Amino acid sequence: MLELKDICFTRDNKKILNHINLKIDTDKFVVITGPNGSGKSTLAKIIMGIEKPDKGQILFDNKDITNLSVDERAKAGIGFAFQQPIRFKGITVYDIIRLSAGKDMTKMEACDILSKVGLCAKEYVDREINASLSGGELKRIEIASVVARNSKLTIFDEPEAGIDLWSFSNLIQIFEAMRKIIKRNYIDYFSPRKNFKYCR
Ligand SMILES: Nc1ncnc2c1ncn2[C@@H]1O[C@H](COP(=O)(O)OP(=O)(O)OP(=O)(O)O)[C@@H](O)[C@H]1O
Ligand SMILES: [Mg+2]
Repeated sequence: MLELKDICFTRDNKKILNHINLKIDTDKFVVITGPNGSGKSTLAKIIMGIEKPDKGQILFDNKDITNLSVDERAKAGIGFAFQQPIRFKGITVYDIIRLSAGKDMTKMEACDILSKVGLCAKEYVDREINASLSGGELKRIEIASVVARNSKLTIFDEPEAGIDLWSFSNLIQIFEAMRKIIKRNYIDYFSPRKNFKYCR
């Protein structure tokens, strides 16, 4: 359970978040919507610890995480996918998926996850995460790394941004699967040894 108590965040005399109270069960699929500039990304970053609130408290599984760093929150079981994912020159897709998983992961397992998020695994697994990737490809790679991480609670900031509408419904199935099977055999679901159906 994630609980936000009286969260306030003001910058440049603008109240961006004003006394926000929210409770989210970790087995729930929750969507927060709002106009551009209403504070969705700010709220997501505050939960992950990327931004610090001026006031308020954040509890995760009844533990106060308000003063924990991003690293500590990740270790406590919170995952995050950025609205605009970061490019890492010199790091391959396989590197990032393996690093994100935080444990040994074979190239085949990484390929299975890439395939699940709609990428032709063999075309991407050894590719560098640099400026040559399209926005949608980068977004899918980030979703793959979050899937590999298998956090108890995952926050996706605008996961549909840059993803073509034809395939977004497939990605929603991935998010639903992450929620449903989180306590069951997660890796089995993401490693069905299918033959990379998205390859041309
Ligand atoms: N560190 C900051 N300093 C100044 N202003 C900020 C800061 N962080 C966020 N803002 C402002 O707070 C408001 C909310 O921004 P935020 O990115 O959270 O909105 P959003 O709801 O995610 O918007 P979008 O739908 O466009 O992604 C914006 O007006 C933004 O310019
Ligand atoms: Mg945003």
